[in-house]
Amino acid sequence: MSTTADQQPAPEHPAADREVSGAEIVFDNVTKTYSGQKVPAVDGLSLTVPAGEIVMFIGPSGCGKTTTLKMINRLHEPTSGTITIGGEDIRSKNATELRRTIGYVIQGGSLFPHMTVGDNIALVPGLLKWDKRRISERVDDLLELVGLDPKRYRDRYPKELSGGQQQRVGVARGLAADPPVLLMDEPFGAVDPITRQRLQDELMSIQEELQKTIVCVTHDIDEAVKLGDRILLLREGAQIAQYDTATTLLANPADEFVEDFIGAGSSLKQLSLSRVDELELQSPVLAAVGDDGRAAAEAARAGGQNDVIVLDSRRRPVGWYNLKEAARMPRLPDHTEQDISVIDRRSTINDALDAMLASAHGGVLVTGRRDEFLGVVTFEAVTDHIRAASDPDAQEATS
Ligand SMILES: Nc1ncnc2c1ncn2[C@@H]1O[C@H](COP(=O)(O)OP(=O)(O)OP(=O)(O)O)[C@@H](O)[C@H]1O
Ligand SMILES: [Mg+2]
Repeated sequence: MSTTADQQPAPEHPAADREVSGAEIVFDNVTKTYSGQKVPAVDGLSLTVPAGEIVMFIGPSGCGKTTTLKMINRLHEPTSGTITIGGEDIRSKNATELRRTIGYVIQGGSLFPHMTVGDNIALVPGLLKWDKRRISERVDDLLELVGLDPKRYRDRYPKELSGGQQQRVGVARGLAADPPVLLMDEPFGAVDPITRQRLQDELMSIQEELQKTIVCVTHDIDEAVKLGDRILLLREGAQIAQYDTATTLLANPADEFVEDFIGAGSSLKQLSLSRVDELELQSPVLAAVGDDGRAAAEAARAGGQNDVIVLDSRRRPVGWYNLKEAARMPRLPDHTEQDISVIDRRSTINDALDAMLASAHGGVLVTGRRDEFLGVVTFEAVTDHIRAASDPDAQEATS
């Protein structure tokens, strides 16, 4: 099921051009009636979640999203119907065993407060009896993956982290044993909008690397559009209102319920479909950690820039200073307490705008895999794009 580093998984579908480590999830006529209830919370749901995709569950409160999700890892048992993962009935294993092969991330990260960050992440690998060295390497890899420096964070306790950092650790813990399936229930609901956007970006780059099957519940249509390869919109009793790609859902809502749900701004929401990597990036003069700040400021000025961008040895942005600030630094440091406004290249244009409004630089830095610097996107590039995208028939949405 899961693969180790020295063992290449054979692609199940020869046509697939990417390495998928996820497994297909199939619901066949699944019903869940809670004891004491007359009406089923989930009523005859049939659904296929393709391997390696992110499917976003969305719908009004009480429509059965969480119930559906929790049946996948047997936190709830269906009253009738079957669920398979990778073709195998989930009842063929005991529930505890099954849960070790399924990552589960909920709001706030739900970390154990008395355990360090490292021990929280190491929990499932420990239960699976991985050897100590492999576990400790895994913990550090995952902390890197979710954008936390292992040296700084591994030995802290959850209460010594911000809400967004705890949520990152929650994601790392969910991925720890390399499960083919990751379930997330409103994972980013409790953090501020900018942090939420970063966590979403991180999830997208992680997914690009890992190709898990991810089922994620959200109440935010923009989040669903941004993250979902497909969106499952449910109405009460987990009845499928529409199950489609974001593009189709926005362009061709199946009925009035779907239309109402995606809201009036749906042509503006199309902006959530455009990614930053469709914009032209600027390639500024760069500086490295340890460089003389005054020389860096002069080089930047000569290149027509108003600020100095500092990269570390792995080409990750670690500082962004105006020329005056930089000139005062004999040695450009490897980190800063200031916000450096970084977004992932797969962020949406909406995100870029949000980040810019919160940035002191009139632009944002764009990074790719493993946070490597790709370029700068300016406010102008974004507004140009919006103008181009809002030709005659979309005029109304932008005026
Ligand atoms: N443990 C339970 N016992 C009885 N009824 C329950 C239980 N959990 C959920 N329900 C009911 O089942 C229905 C579906 O609940 P569920 O939690 O799956 O909804 P949801 O779509 O996740 O809602 P929300 O968006 O508010 O989280 C609701 O009517 C709810 O009241
Ligand atoms: Mg819920």
